[in-house]
Amino acid sequence: MPLPSHVRLIEVGPRDGLQNEAQPISIADKVRLVDALTAAGLDYIEVGSFVSPKWVPQMAGSAEVFAQIQRKPGVTYGALAPNLRGFEDAMAAGVKEVAVFAAASEAFSQRNINCSISESLERFVPIMDAARQHGVSVRGYVSCVLGCPYEGDVAPEQVALVARELYAMGCYEVSLGDTIGTGTAGATRRMFEVVGAQVPRDKLAGHFHDTYGQAMANVYASLLEGIAVFDSSIAGLGGCPYAKGASGNVATEDVLYLLNGLGIETGVDMQQLLVAGQQICDVLGRVTGSRVAKARSAQ
Ligand code: HMG
Ligand code: MG
Repeated sequence: MPLPSHVRLIEVGPRDGLQNEAQPISIADKVRLVDALTAAGLDYIEVGSFVSPKWVPQMAGSAEVFAQIQRKPGVTYGALAPNLRGFEDAMAAGVKEVAVFAAASEAFSQRNINCSISESLERFVPIMDAARQHGVSVRGYVSCVLGCPYEGDVAPEQVALVARELYAMGCYEVSLGDTIGTGTAGATRRMFEVVGAQVPRDKLAGHFHDTYGQAMANVYASLLEGIAVFDSSIAGLGGCPYAKGASGNVATEDVLYLLNGLGIETGVDMQQLLVAGQQICDVLGRVTGSRVAKARSAQ
């Protein structure tokens, strides 16, 4: 399969990157981050979550962040919505696209959203109906596609089942998440082969956490499988509060470096991206998780 000529980068740093941060981050700093990512040319930025603040306290200010960001035409500013309540809150905050999130493993589904996989899928049906009424697109996530922190191995067939359900109920794209970052390139290819038989590959995205240092290899393995949409996080920030020890997503800067090297277009500007990454690392008092950013700052 030839490599894609264009890849879409979904920047999940403000959501997946920051949701796990214990220290308070001001609304102003979150807004500055989103605006800096917009300036870098990203055309999809996941800004926050409309989830229970008891479950994920850091995302509590998402409506205020949405109220203050500078929206650039052509850029999608998305948010997670786990239930109808979250969807309605998102609409009230002027969100134009939401994402629902399911898991390929029962135990993770219980820990993350307090219900079974099938209950979660049922819960998404009214969201899909409401989204259609509002003319809002819905993205779908499947977590634990290459392993579960509670159950261990996850069969690709199980991933395919959940991904197919999300696609069938109207998610325009399904992002397959290696939540705990244990996947390897071979497992990634096998997973896309199996899921790709149920959902068209141009409707699938890769979402790789880098816990075991495999995320870049998994992005490349996915490219070889014809996948052309990747979720990534500025400065490699993040982790999931319900997957202990899970590190951040693959760093946006590093994926961009790979894609630039392959001559694959993204529309994203490296210099501006590095500025955005440096800014948020300064706020967090943290060294960047991006190898490219580290190398550039050492020059
Ligand atoms: P629950 O406790 O079963 O919900 O949580 P409930 O319906 O029984 O409600 C309990 C309380 O939560 C009530 O408040 C509700 O009003 C409130 P109380 O009466 O106790 O004061 N509530 C809400 N508040 C705000 N917004 C809402 C909302 N819904 C209920 N939308 C629930 C179920 C889904 C709400 C909860 O489990 C939850 O919020 N989970 C979110 C978990 C989460 O955000 N995880 C991280 C994102 S997923 C991820 O990172 C993976 C991903 O990156 C891909 C990958 O890497 O694999 C996407
Ligand atoms: Mg994630």
